[in-house]
Amino acid sequence: MAKEILVTGGAGYIGSHCVLELVEAGFAPVVIDNFHNAIRGSNTVPESIWRVEEIVGKKIPFHELDILDETGLQNLFKKHRFSAVIHFAGLKAVGESVQMPLEYYKVNLTGTIRLLETMKVHGVKNLVFSSSATVYGDPAYLPLDEKHPVGGCTNPYGKSKYFIEEMIRDLCKAEPDWNAVLLRYFNPIGAHKSGKIGEDPQGIPNNLMPYVAQVAVGRRDYLNVFGNDYSTVDGTGVRDYIHVVDLAKGHIAALKKLKENCGCKIYNLGTGTGYSVLQMVKAMEKASGKEIKYKIIARREGDIASCFANPALAEEELGWKAVFDLDRMCEDLWRWQSQNPSGFSKN
Ligand code: WQD
Repeated sequence: MAKEILVTGGAGYIGSHCVLELVEAGFAPVVIDNFHNAIRGSNTVPESIWRVEEIVGKKIPFHELDILDETGLQNLFKKHRFSAVIHFAGLKAVGESVQMPLEYYKVNLTGTIRLLETMKVHGVKNLVFSSSATVYGDPAYLPLDEKHPVGGCTNPYGKSKYFIEEMIRDLCKAEPDWNAVLLRYFNPIGAHKSGKIGEDPQGIPNNLMPYVAQVAVGRRDYLNVFGNDYSTVDGTGVRDYIHVVDLAKGHIAALKKLKENCGCKIYNLGTGTGYSVLQMVKAMEKASGKEIKYKIIARREGDIASCFANPALAEEELGWKAVFDLDRMCEDLWRWQSQNPSGFSKN
């Protein structure tokens, strides 16, 4: 019997790619999602999960559920015997978090506490948590390794990730029978090679590459480049972009780590290579064959100049490293966007 893995927020961009890799690795993922970041589609399951089922040729158990719903969580854990939980569910828009901090702390912190409490009651004490490089704040040195100080994040979204990391660390200290792997994502981009699933932000994309892809496919006229006066290779912001499938495979490696009764472990999931905004634009023009117009405008509040990972610890302790290069990230992103100009919605 394949091991059941609960995937909270499994209908989202990273969650759905992780669900696919879980099935391919022989696990039995069970997905919960409240449709905050997912399109309902014309099926009983979210469109993204329906497409994952198409790709893998298997049904994926799905329950529409909010992690704040304690009764719903209790009933779910009574119905299944989870060997671990991969926790993606939460609010994730940096700018929005500044406008509505309470909502972000309620969903991300209280939601996680209710999940952890339910796990404890049902004796499920293996957790992979979706954290973020944003917990490092403005880097004191680069590349960023896991020893770099954390907590310097300035927005409520980043702080919520930091607070949840601290909650999980304290829980693992107090109760040594817990095992948790905290994964600090750098900048996930791209899509599964089928082009059937991908990132589909609702409204105006906050992140660079979904916006660039929408310019390439003609949904937007041009990209606004947020400043070109940073001390970087060409003045524009540098980030560590990682293929979402590489990122998803990192979660499979984390599940295997849990089986070693590892206690609480923290890993960067990045490539170790940084690219600037203009380098990303050029890479996407090459992948799509389209011109991507842009305008240089003022810096975005809260942005940092450069951020990229030292990925050595994950390679050493998880036996994981990113394998897809920038061209492949952009080719896969273009296949998804060009085959789905309006994302998952039909219109
Ligand atoms: C990348 C670069 C921008 C949009 C955020 C979150 C982080 C994580 C990843 C969740 C920067 C520039 C962007 C645009 C631009 N998310 N840019 N024009 O800010 O590194 O990280 O997403 O965990 O928590 O903070 O990613 O894609 O927003 O920006 O010039 O329209 O692209 O200035 O240099 P970021 P991003």
